[in-house]
Amino acid sequence: METKLLSTGVTFSTLPASYVRPESDRPRLSVVSTCQDVPIIDLACPDRTHLLVQLREACKSYGFFQVINHGVPEEVVKNMLEVACEFFKLPVEEKMKLYSDDPSKTMRLSTSFNVKKETIRNWRDYLRLHCHPLDKYLPEWPSNPPSFKERVRKYCEEVRALGMRIEEYIGESLGLHADYMKEVLGDQGQHMAVNYYPPCPQPQLTYGLPGHTDPNALTILLQDLQVSGLQVLKDHHWLAVSPQPHAFVVNIGDQIQWLQAVSNGVYKSVWHRAVVNAEKPRLSVASFLCPSDDALISPAKQITENGSEPIYRGFTYAEYYNKFWSRNLDQEHCLELFKNH
Ligand code: OGA
Ligand code: NI
Repeated sequence: METKLLSTGVTFSTLPASYVRPESDRPRLSVVSTCQDVPIIDLACPDRTHLLVQLREACKSYGFFQVINHGVPEEVVKNMLEVACEFFKLPVEEKMKLYSDDPSKTMRLSTSFNVKKETIRNWRDYLRLHCHPLDKYLPEWPSNPPSFKERVRKYCEEVRALGMRIEEYIGESLGLHADYMKEVLGDQGQHMAVNYYPPCPQPQLTYGLPGHTDPNALTILLQDLQVSGLQVLKDHHWLAVSPQPHAFVVNIGDQIQWLQAVSNGVYKSVWHRAVVNAEKPRLSVASFLCPSDDALISPAKQITENGSEPIYRGFTYAEYYNKFWSRNLDQEHCLELFKNH
């Protein structure tokens, strides 16, 4: 049987041709700076105004920030990372039972990004889960390792609560009332991607994930502390975001960018990517909060406030999400496909 996954336990000595990017589209790792200053926001800060100012600054200038003292217990985070690591160490035959390249599946193990749509592969395997409502999706999650369901469930609950809190702050930092985001986004969906990037024989020729923006509302990323790989585009330069102990990396997705276009569009869903390395495998756990499928995403006040046509048309989240998965990852910003002419 042809092995579709990368995480087979076999090490590669050269990069298979299907992963090699053309010269114009390589990560140029030597010109990436290490970023000392993706803002770190202390969520335990008792001064709410100060917190909101910091958040606004971070969302404006980076679209990314890290949070510490976020309230998610260390044990829950540790358990999540451990079980993710154990999962990818399972024998390949066991993992292949969960393999699918159909993006409409609510639980699947896959590889690269969108195998059916892309021409060049990415050096990544990933497990994708739907996580809300938990009772609906938990039964279909992997039952091996045996502690998987319980550990991941706990992690999902904690991260969801954190995400809601951050969305509330984001709303407030835009001068919107505290419940604005909650109301517009409806009963938010939650998806998880457990990303596994095996050691790569020629990391300078390929990506773990090429540059993209996230199609959802808010992403909360847990990075493996030992290995860096996340890079963020700022002022046309790629910056490496080194993992910080006890922190999550948070970024604004396309939906929040579009919702707040009414406030002069200061918060952007920023391009980011994951690069790979030759020595060590890397794990990351991305939690995506998404508007409910029927949420109408459109900054309705825009026309009346400044008299101009909105840049993009409104859509339901279901429509947007289908469009996102109907294409290759490293194309234009998905929002561009909804532009008004
Ligand atoms: C993602 C993502 C970055 C990483 O899953 O959307 O951007 O570092 N991941 O794994
Ligand atoms: Ni992403």
